[in-house]
Amino acid sequence: MEERGFIFQDKVDREIRIEPTDWMPEDYRKTLIRQISQHAHSEIVGMLPEANWITRAPSLRRKAALLAKVQDEAGHGLYLYSAAETLGVSRDELYDQLHTGKAKYSSIFNYPTLTWADIGAIGWLVDGAAIMNQVPLCRASYGPYARAMVRICKEESFHQRQGFEIMLTLCRGTEAQKRLAQDALNRWWWPTLMMFGPRDDDSPHSAQSMRWRIKRFSNDELRQKFVDITVEQATYLGLTVPDRDLRFDTETGHYRTGEIDWSEFKAVISGNGPCNRQRLEARVKAWEDGAWVREAAEAHAHKLKKKVAI
Ligand code: ACO
Repeated sequence: MEERGFIFQDKVDREIRIEPTDWMPEDYRKTLIRQISQHAHSEIVGMLPEANWITRAPSLRRKAALLAKVQDEAGHGLYLYSAAETLGVSRDELYDQLHTGKAKYSSIFNYPTLTWADIGAIGWLVDGAAIMNQVPLCRASYGPYARAMVRICKEESFHQRQGFEIMLTLCRGTEAQKRLAQDALNRWWWPTLMMFGPRDDDSPHSAQSMRWRIKRFSNDELRQKFVDITVEQATYLGLTVPDRDLRFDTETGHYRTGEIDWSEFKAVISGNGPCNRQRLEARVKAWEDGAWVREAAEAHAHKLKKKVAI
């Protein structure tokens, strides 16, 4: 066992991918199931806030792009559930954990989308943060996860651009449109910073996940990279980041933000955010409404099997 553990870590250190049939420590398997399934749930729940605006998109072009984006999120969820299944957990178990409220998904999807500008802000900020966090995951030590992330990141990059372009259009529009964009930034800025997870000192999983090269950068490092890029984009848009303490630190070359409200983060991840209940209800309803499809598929498969047997 000791030797297997040593060989495993040596492979990880030499950047040799771990594959489903390779030996791996039980905790590595559990950590991956936890992270990949939380990620998959986030993609699926993440469809809900945006789907809310498909019927109200301001033009056919905007509607087509939004529809494609929401479909992409469904695809991301499916790749990720498949990657999790290679670790020996069934999709039914994972859905059950989501539907019973046992599994976490990203805090960000528990906020409401109140105006069309929120669709721009989600693309720009939420997908921007997702890319920052997920590009390093393309080099995660577990093969199926890393490979799934490559395509996901390409699509996320399109999502970020469509969001920024919505914001740019609003910011170059009328005063009222610009106000909508500013209001969306005001509401989404802090929850987006929370997406990166707790501060490094309060992150119980980071150190081990970095040793296993599942994570390549810490939560705070990724948050900082995001802030440095996004503050300048906000300036380009002519918007104000809603943080009075925000300043550029000439010594370090980084933007320093004010303190994140961690009590809000804790409330949201423990089920008490503005839309947690609504999101779970929607997922459970979709599962129940889809029962007939699962039953029909099963009956069809059964019939085919019988035909082959004859
Ligand atoms: N929302 C909900 N839960 C969170 C969040 C968040 N934004 N950030 C951290 N947590 C949870 C962790 O899941 C963990 O909970 P658990 O022990 O019950 O599983 C706990 O808070 C402690 O956090 P960490 O020790 O920092 O956990 P971890 O090392 O897993 O890092 C992170 C969290 C950065 C989110 C990591 O899991 C990750 O990179 N996941 C893959 C990316 C992802 O899931 N993105 C989803 C949103 S992007 C999108 O879908 C468009």
